[in-house]
Amino acid sequence: MKIHLQITDIKKQQKSCVIVGVFEQAKLTPHAKALDQLTDGALTKILKAKIFQGKIGETFPLCQLPAIENILLVGCGSDTKVSTLNFRKIANSSMKALQSMKISHATSYLTDLSVERPGEGITHIIKHLAEVADDALYQFDEFKTQKEPIALQTLCLHVNNASQLKQAQLALKQGMAIAEGVRYTKDLANQPSNVCTPTYLAQQAKELTKAYPSISLKILEEADMKKLGMGAFLGVAKGSAEDAKLVCMEYQGSRKKPAPIVLVGKGITFDTGGISLKPQDNIVGMKYDMCGAATVLGTMKAIAELKLPLHVVGLLAATENMPGGHAYKPEDILTSMSGQTIEVISTDAEGRLVLCDTLTYCERYKPDVVIDVATLTGAIVVALGSHATGLLSNHDPLAKDLLAASEESADRAWQLPLWDDYQEQIKSPFADISNVGGKGAGAITAACFLSRFTKKFHWAHLDVAGTAAVMMGNGERKATGRPVPMLMQYLINRAGKL
Ligand code: BES
Ligand code: MN
Ligand code: ZN
Repeated sequence: MKIHLQITDIKKQQKSCVIVGVFEQAKLTPHAKALDQLTDGALTKILKAKIFQGKIGETFPLCQLPAIENILLVGCGSDTKVSTLNFRKIANSSMKALQSMKISHATSYLTDLSVERPGEGITHIIKHLAEVADDALYQFDEFKTQKEPIALQTLCLHVNNASQLKQAQLALKQGMAIAEGVRYTKDLANQPSNVCTPTYLAQQAKELTKAYPSISLKILEEADMKKLGMGAFLGVAKGSAEDAKLVCMEYQGSRKKPAPIVLVGKGITFDTGGISLKPQDNIVGMKYDMCGAATVLGTMKAIAELKLPLHVVGLLAATENMPGGHAYKPEDILTSMSGQTIEVISTDAEGRLVLCDTLTYCERYKPDVVIDVATLTGAIVVALGSHATGLLSNHDPLAKDLLAASEESADRAWQLPLWDDYQEQIKSPFADISNVGGKGAGAITAACFLSRFTKKFHWAHLDVAGTAAVMMGNGERKATGRPVPMLMQYLINRAGKL
């Protein structure tokens, strides 16, 4: 599907399905008003008859009118100032309706709407429209023998005048690059683990370097990790027949070579729980335990696509977590690269073990900030569900920047405390620390564990166990591509400040 901007005339849209917004109580957006006149009050009639009420995301197709062939009414709710999240809902349902109507060309006048936050005009709307359009039409059908084609070929986003057009161009470019990063992240995450192995993730990174010369690549094999003393990472990898990889990508988009922003992704390509085997009900969905790594790959792609003037390093900690004769066991003691010893209480708390050595490895980049992305705990799903990513940080300004980016991108995050009080919970009688924090505050104690390895730099941890992939009750599961939009907004903001 192609998206473009255009100053259109709604009277001349015979070949295109026009999408217009309608509020509750029959309040029409400017272009809905224009259409109503053009169709001798067809919209007013429908609203009077109350077959369409204008509730957020409600859609109503109006076809075969003499003046215009296809109209799609979209409900925008009662408030004329919509939140970004509701704007995205409205845009999303318009796209889903287009698909079920099998429309191939559409023009969206949702640019008539204004979002509630001041100072966020057309650019904000265009960026979100582009992202949502791609997101709504996404399907992962690589392994279906019967595929359902996407009907929509072109989507035109209406702008009112030349000045809006000019402003919207960069926003569209950014929105489309983010959409592409999100799509790539979803594609990787949705791959089954018999395809998406650590080696596969490393190959994907290689492909990125081929497509974008601004990205360079170094892959650490198990032998290299052994030399570095990564006993925690290798402890997890021991049970797997697949080779573990620490994939190191480096994007250089700035001649000045500033201290890098380092992104670290948890890349457990399948998490069985290991010897602390997961029960049947919890094991389905664990192919998504590499969503952190997929997010880092998607973000690197989007940054390179936008040529952001930044220095960004992306590290993927990739292995499987398997049981077996060679697997690590509860009560094993591992020595991490940092020298700290770790008693394994549960082999299912493997994410923090692969991350801790990767975080120590970050030190050599002399980072400006380090942000890790990980499907780390079930506890964060209990706390925040699938609405917000958990954010914990040892540096408040970084946390604030990420929260602001999450708000702006509508890819929400919520901060949890990283108080010293919780550190008590990860004491071990035999080693420096335990890999499990016991009862209560599981998402926080997991972050406390990581914080023992991030003392030398500014660091934030994003626990995306609830947001990167969602499980529907009916067995349906899907990757969301989160938190690529949040990270991209953070990076775009950082690039803007240079
Ligand atoms: N990958 C899981 C966390 C997870 C849970 C992700 C649900 C997505 C959905 C992680 O490795 C894990 O198993 N964590 C354990 C930690 C516990 C043993 C301390 C958990 O949360 O149960
Ligand atoms: Mn686990
Ligand atoms: Zn895991």
